[in-house]
Amino acid sequence: MSDALLRVNDLSVCALTESGEYDIVNHLGFSLQKGEILGLVGESGCGKSVTALSIAGLLPEKIRIHTGSVTFEGQELQLLKKRELRKIQGKELSMIFQEPMTSLNPLMKIGRQVSENLRLHSSLTAGEIRGQTLRILGKVGLPRPEELIDAYPHELSGGMRQRVMIAMAVICKPKLIIADEPTTALDVTIQAQILGLLREINREFDCAILFISHDLGVIRRLCHRVLVMYAGTVVEEGAMRSVFAHPAHEYTKGLIGSIPTRDLKGKRLANIPGHVPPLTEKQMGCPFAPRCGQAQAACFTQKPPSITLEPNHRVCCFEAGKESEEEYA
Ligand SMILES: Nc1ncnc2c1ncn2[C@@H]1O[C@H](COP(=O)(O)OP(=O)(O)O)[C@@H](O)[C@H]1O
Ligand SMILES: [Mg+2]
Repeated sequence: MSDALLRVNDLSVCALTESGEYDIVNHLGFSLQKGEILGLVGESGCGKSVTALSIAGLLPEKIRIHTGSVTFEGQELQLLKKRELRKIQGKELSMIFQEPMTSLNPLMKIGRQVSENLRLHSSLTAGEIRGQTLRILGKVGLPRPEELIDAYPHELSGGMRQRVMIAMAVICKPKLIIADEPTTALDVTIQAQILGLLREINREFDCAILFISHDLGVIRRLCHRVLVMYAGTVVEEGAMRSVFAHPAHEYTKGLIGSIPTRDLKGKRLANIPGHVPPLTEKQMGCPFAPRCGQAQAACFTQKPPSITLEPNHRVCCFEAGKESEEEYA
């Protein structure tokens, strides 16, 4: 589809370390439509944050994109000049991180931080900026905005700080918000409120959200579509309903099985045995093969094909391919 808001094509990202270069993200591809809420899920260490930072142009030193492209509204971000990129970053594409305390400036008043992008990217008067800042603080459910603009981050609770981050992210009405584990550090009640707030913002501002979490249960509550990531690559993607009704990859099945359930009082039903392979381990075949109960010999030596199961559901797996062939034979 040509009207995608964001398109990531064959993206590979590597880390430069003293002992060599290692791939963190491998040939990643997906697109995100205007107004869509797309989930990116995978265990810790799968490369979700590095993917987010690559898209936002915020990769740290020693990590670099070595192939592929990231286009935002048809523009290749890597080709933009620093100044043009900064304009997109502050205004059209914004990020929310897991730990607001590390992204907020402890020495700057809340009002000034929230309004910063507006000051940089609009020609509004000081009075108009103050008005908009108060409005957005109210919008994200923060009480007494007039007092809050003069407060410092340490005077706020974790949930309130996350709301401040969301206010900062939406004040310029971006087209895309990348939210990297924004509720992971919060307790379940506050987590539910923040998810509700993101849903409202998506509807009201029609901004797309790339929502990243290690918890498929959280992703399911918010997202329209999901990408399941393992060892730097997407192993399954599809509409939320389709992926939950017919998960095709053993990793996706494992993630679904490990969602805490209410009847077991939050206990997990199962855990996926094994762990995410270290980056230093070169993968010949399917990266999940060593942990997969269904793996065959070919899974360890050849890259699995990408199989389309339904128009909006695909999986990278030899075995799932066989099953779907049988189904349609
Ligand atoms: N600055 C860095 N230098 C070297 N390796 C890194 C750096 N940041 C992340 N990595 C490695 O990249 C992999 C993916 O990390 P990350 O994207 O943070 O995973 P996730 O967000 O899915 O938990 C991990 O193995 C991590 O150790
Ligand atoms: Mg992360």
